Amino acid sequence: MEALKGVRILDMTHVQAGPTCSQLLAWMGADVIKLENPQGDATRGQLRDVPNADSLYFTMLNCNKRSITVNMKSAEGKQVFVDLLKKCHIIMENFGPGVLDRFGFTWQKIHELNPKIVMGSIKGFGSRGPYADFKAYENVAQAMGGAMSTTGVPDGPPFVTGAQIGDTGTGLHLAIGMLAALRQADRTGEGQYVEVAMMDGVMNLCRVKFRDHQRLTRGDMPEYSVPTYKGMGEVPRAGNDSGGGQLGNAIHCKPHGANDWLYIVVQEAVWEPLAKRIGPDLGIPDLATDSRFATIGERRKNQQLMWTLINKFAEKHTKRELMAILNPLDVPCGPIMSTQDLANDEHVHGRDMWVELDHPQRGKWWNVGMPIKLSASPAMIKRSPTLGEHTDEVLKEVLGYDQARINSLRSAGAFSVPPKKAA
Ligand SMILES: CC(C)(COP(=O)(O)OP(=O)(O)OC[C@H]1O[C@@H](n2cnc3c(N)ncnc32)[C@H](O)[C@@H]1OP(=O)(O)O)[C@@H](O)C(=O)NCCC(=O)NCCS
Repeated sequence: MEALKGVRILDMTHVQAGPTCSQLLAWMGADVIKLENPQGDATRGQLRDVPNADSLYFTMLNCNKRSITVNMKSAEGKQVFVDLLKKCHIIMENFGPGVLDRFGFTWQKIHELNPKIVMGSIKGFGSRGPYADFKAYENVAQAMGGAMSTTGVPDGPPFVTGAQIGDTGTGLHLAIGMLAALRQADRTGEGQYVEVAMMDGVMNLCRVKFRDHQRLTRGDMPEYSVPTYKGMGEVPRAGNDSGGGQLGNAIHCKPHGANDWLYIVVQEAVWEPLAKRIGPDLGIPDLATDSRFATIGERRKNQQLMWTLINKFAEKHTKRELMAILNPLDVPCGPIMSTQDLANDEHVHGRDMWVELDHPQRGKWWNVGMPIKLSASPAMIKRSPTLGEHTDEVLKEVLGYDQARINSLRSAGAFSVPPKKAA
């Protein structure tokens, strides 16, 4: 937790895209002050599994942060915000278009108030261009960034992926940008505005599909298991094809349940040992020298047959048994692991990727751990804060306010929403 020690972040992010970024930075040691709407990040109450407790949606994305509530629509709340802004190295937000501007805090204003501060901003589509005024959620970004049109099978509908590439993926991009800007600010004394659009982030993650998009102007793509041709225009959905130079696919194994699959990459170098191992069982002892599969070009051409043969071999084995057969042959492969498999996996636990925590409202629960392992700065994961848990602490410790001032701000409504007027 030492890497970002001393870096203070004013975190106005909500839902998933921003909080995933600030959680990672908190796990690297930054002091993340989550400035929340007095009603709280909407995810606190979304998809609740325990009555009256912060949801897993919130708790899994907001660990190691401090929470303060500030009403940005009150003059006193805005003053607290300005005071905090002057004490922080980074401010970050992922509001809908124009929200911060409507509070009266454009980037120019923020820069004027604290010239060294780095501002990180996530928008669905960025701050300029025809889509700039639109809001976005995960699947909207997957739809518009190229992921959905290239996921699925050609004659089926486009599919979203379970990995949150629109939200969490964008959060990762933002973290990289803000750390670079922070380094520059340390050198020059000048902060800058770092913007990541979710659509751009998804396009970046679909880079190889845009490689293929351009290859289609010159010819077909023989490694695809579905038909492709020169001038096709759109990159097709190609099921579980590998996406790289090597052929790959998911192989169905015994007992043929929903997740009884092993993903196999038939790397050029492993064809011969693989064919020697499976050929005899399939009644084709000379499979390794069979001309239909002798070169990678031939295997690409005849890949449907190759996958049929490998699937036939797999019928007698579970995914773990097949993995045990293929690993000694150096065949890159991995079982399709369910969430249940992962939550119980020894390797996952050994790498602190499934971490048990305690929470005052919900009791014991689990979070996915820190995937970035810093040798001298290991993450120590602490539970997410309850709403406004650290308001007084932050005002005293970071801003030096005394209790009388806090009380007077509180009665002026700086930390709460005004009560609804009776009808
Ligand atoms: C995610 C998103 C669609 C949610 O939309 P939304 O629920 O309407 O929320 P918005 O961010 O647009 O607006 C937040 C509202 O809360 C208010 N609010 C937020 N913090 C506040 C505070 N501390 N005090 C007072 N009001 C506050 C804002 O003023 C705004 O109200 P307004 O529209 O009256 O100005 C939208 O925030 C968005 O497009 N974000 C950018 C893209 C993104 O990150 N999407 C992925 C999210 S995982």
